[in-house]
Amino acid sequence: MLPKEFLWGGATAANQCEGAYLEGGKKMNVTDIITSGKHNVPRRITPKLESDAWYPNHTAIDFYHHYKEDIALFAEMGFKSYRMSIAWTRIFPNGDDKLPNEEGLQFYDEVFDECHKYGIEPVVTLLHYDTPLNIVDTYGGWTNRKVIDLFVTYATTVLRHYADKVKYWLLINEINCIETVPWYSAGIKNATRENIAIAAYHQLIACAKTVIAAREISLDFKMGMMYAGYFTYANSKDPEDVWGNYAFQRNHLFYADVQCRGYYPNYKLKEFERDGIVLPTVKGDNEILQNGTVDFISFSYYFTKVAGKKTDFHNVTNCLSDTGYVNELLPKSAWDWQIDAKGLRYALNLLYDRYQKPLMIVENGLGANDQFSEDGMIHDDYRIDYLRNHFNEMKDAVTLDGVELMGYHMWGCIDIISFATGEMSKRYGFIYVDVDDAGKGTYKRLRKDSFYWYQKCIASNGEDL
Ligand code: BG6
Repeated sequence: MLPKEFLWGGATAANQCEGAYLEGGKKMNVTDIITSGKHNVPRRITPKLESDAWYPNHTAIDFYHHYKEDIALFAEMGFKSYRMSIAWTRIFPNGDDKLPNEEGLQFYDEVFDECHKYGIEPVVTLLHYDTPLNIVDTYGGWTNRKVIDLFVTYATTVLRHYADKVKYWLLINEINCIETVPWYSAGIKNATRENIAIAAYHQLIACAKTVIAAREISLDFKMGMMYAGYFTYANSKDPEDVWGNYAFQRNHLFYADVQCRGYYPNYKLKEFERDGIVLPTVKGDNEILQNGTVDFISFSYYFTKVAGKKTDFHNVTNCLSDTGYVNELLPKSAWDWQIDAKGLRYALNLLYDRYQKPLMIVENGLGANDQFSEDGMIHDDYRIDYLRNHFNEMKDAVTLDGVELMGYHMWGCIDIISFATGEMSKRYGFIYVDVDDAGKGTYKRLRKDSFYWYQKCIASNGEDL
C-alpha cells in the first residue's frame, strides 16, 4: 500500500498554461519569443516578435482567467496536490525591479487560496523555463553572476509572501536540461560548453542560497531539486558501451550530485581541468553549496534512453539530447518517446540508492493525439493503460523496494502547450481544452475517460487501477 499521506496530483507550468503574457503587469520571458513547431519541426527563437509567426505560450490555455474552473476540476478528481510554477515575470516583470509587482503577487495568492479551498496542497516551482527576457538583454542571462542575486531576491520574496500557503518548493525545473536546452533554461544565446558550465554554476549557487534563505523564513518548508529524468541503458555488454552510457547518465546526475551532496564531484572537476574550463568561483561559494542542499528530489519521467560508445554527451546543439540509439524492445508514443513503465521502478531505485533522500514524481504522462468519438467524448484508454503500468511499477518501488516516495503528479493534467514542439495537439491531460495548434477554439474544458479513472485511482490510494 502507498502511504496514507501520498500526494496524488497533477502538474503544469506557468509558461505553458497561463497565457495572458502581458497582463497584470507581466513582461516577456525567454519562452515568449519562441514560435510554435511540430514533431520534427523545431521551434524558432526569434530575437524580436515577428508579426507573422505564432507564439503559442502567449495565450496557452488561458489558465490566468480559468484557474477557478480548472482547480475545481482538479478537486473533482480528488487531487491532494497541484504542482505548478510561479512566473518570475509576474512578480518582477523585468527581473531586476526594485519592488515586486503587487498584481502578480495577488494572482498567485488567489490561485493558492483556491487550491486550499479544496484541500489541495500546492507544490511550487520557482523557475520553469521562464527567465525574464530583460535579464538576457541587460545581463546576458545566467552566465552573469549578478543573476544569482536577482533570482534570490525573487525567490525570497515569494517564499516570504506565500510562507503560510506553500510548504513544498521546487527550485529550478529540470536543472540538468541546461545541457540540452540552454536558451530555455538559462537564456544562453551562445551555447558553448564553457558558457553552459558557468551558467550552471550560477544556477547551482542561486539554488543553494535560496535553500539557505528558505530555512530562515520557515522551518516547515520542504525544498526540492528538480531533475529531468535521463535514465539510460547501455547499448550492449561491450565495456565501451557500458562506459559511454555511464558517462552520459552521470553527466546529468551531476546536477543532483551537487544539490544533494553540496559540492562539485571529482569527476566533473577533472573534466573541467582537462577541457580548460575554469569555474567563476568566489570566496564563500563552497560553504554556500555545502549549506544549501535540498530536502528531497523531484523528477520528471517520460522515457528511458539507450546510450553507448557513440553518445556525444556534450552535443549541445541537439535539443532532444539524443544518444544515437533507439531501444527496439520498447513501444513509442506518436512523438517517438519510448514508453518504459519498468524504467520508472529503475529510476526510483537509482535515485534513492544514490542519494537516500525522499523522492517526488512531478512529471510523467503520455502526450497523444486525442480524438473525439462519435459520442462526443474522448476515450483515452491508451493513456489509462500507460498510467496503470507506470503506477504498478511505482507501487513496487515503494512496497517491494522501500523507496521513500512523497507523491505523483501527472504532467499536463489539463491539456497545455507542449514544451518541445509548442503544439496543443500533443495532449497529456485528463481534461481536454478546446484550443488548436493555432490558438483557435472555445477554450472549453471537457473530462476525458482518464479523468474518471484517475478519480477512482486517487479515491483508492492507487489500489483500484
Ligand atoms: C519536461 C518539461 O521536459 O517535459 C515540461 O519540464 C514539458 O515543461 C514536459 O512540457 C513534456 O514535454 P513536451 O514537449 O511533451 O511538452
